[in-house]
Amino acid sequence: MKKGIILAGGLGKRLWPITTSISKQLLPVFDKPLIYYSLTTLMLSNIREILIITKEKDQESYKNLLSDGSQWGISISYKIQNQPRGIPEAFILGEEFIGDANVALILGDNIFYGSSFSNILQRTISNFNKSTIFLFSINNPAEYGVAELKEEKLVRIIEKPNTFISNWAVTGLYFYSNEVIDIAKSLKPSKRNELEITDINNYLINSNKLEFIKLNRGFTWMDAGNSKSLLEASHFVQTIEERQGLKISCPEEIAYRMNFIDKKQLENLIDKIDHLEYSNYLKKIVKL
Ligand code: G1P
Repeated sequence: MKKGIILAGGLGKRLWPITTSISKQLLPVFDKPLIYYSLTTLMLSNIREILIITKEKDQESYKNLLSDGSQWGISISYKIQNQPRGIPEAFILGEEFIGDANVALILGDNIFYGSSFSNILQRTISNFNKSTIFLFSINNPAEYGVAELKEEKLVRIIEKPNTFISNWAVTGLYFYSNEVIDIAKSLKPSKRNELEITDINNYLINSNKLEFIKLNRGFTWMDAGNSKSLLEASHFVQTIEERQGLKISCPEEIAYRMNFIDKKQLENLIDKIDHLEYSNYLKKIVKL
C-alpha cells in the first residue's frame, strides 16, 4: 500500500462562523495546522503518494501550505469535492489516483498519538492482506461508528447508535484493499443523504475481509470537529510538547526521521523558516 488520501472537504458547520472563510483542517491545533496531524500519520505509515481532497475554494490555500510535498520527500496531489456526499466518495474521486494500489484513507480532522504508532502502521501495511480499521475506546461512542464485538470478533459496525453497543469507536483511519473503489460505487445514500463508510465496513465484515486493531491505553485519538474538541486537542498537544520538548506531527522532522529527506535537505528547509521557535526546534533535531 503506497497511496493515501486525506479527506479535507466538508462544511465544518460545527465550527461556524470561522469555517465560512477558512477550511476547518487549516485551523491551528496548538502550533500547527490541523491537517499536519493526518498528513504525518500517513507519512509515519511510510506512504509517500498522497491525494488531498478539498472544496474548490480551499484548494489554493492547501497548495500554499503544502505545495507538491517534494520539500518533505513526498508527492501531494489535489482533487476537488464540492458537495460533501460522504466519506466513501473519496474512493470514487480518487479512483484514478489509487489505480490498482491498496489505499489508506484518513479524515483530515483526526489526530492520532501514541507510543510505537508508526510501528503498528508500518507493520499493518507491510503484512497487508485484509482491509483494516482502527478502534479506540471512548466515553461518547454514540457520536461515531461503533464496533460490535463478540469474543474479539467483529460482528458489525453501527453508525451513531441510539443504544449502547460498546465503547469501541471506529476512528477515521482506514486501510483498504483496492476493491474499496467498486464497493464505494455500489453504495446507496443513507438517511442523512450521504454515502456511509460504515456501509463499506459492514460489507467487508460480511465477506470476512475486515480486520481491526484496537488502539489501547496509552493512545490518544481525537477529532477536532468543533470548538471544544479543537481547544482540547490544542491543550493536549501543548502539554506533551512543552513537557517533552518534542513536537507532535512535525512534517519536517518526520520526513527526516523516515529518511524521506536527508540532513542537507532538512537544513535547507530550516533556512527558509521564518519562525524562530520552529527553526530552533528543527536545528535541535539535526544535531541529535
Ligand atoms: C465519521 C464516520 C464514523 C467515524 C467518524 C470518525 O463520522 O461516519 O463512522 O466513527 O467519522 O471520526 P462523521 O464525521 O460523518 O459524523
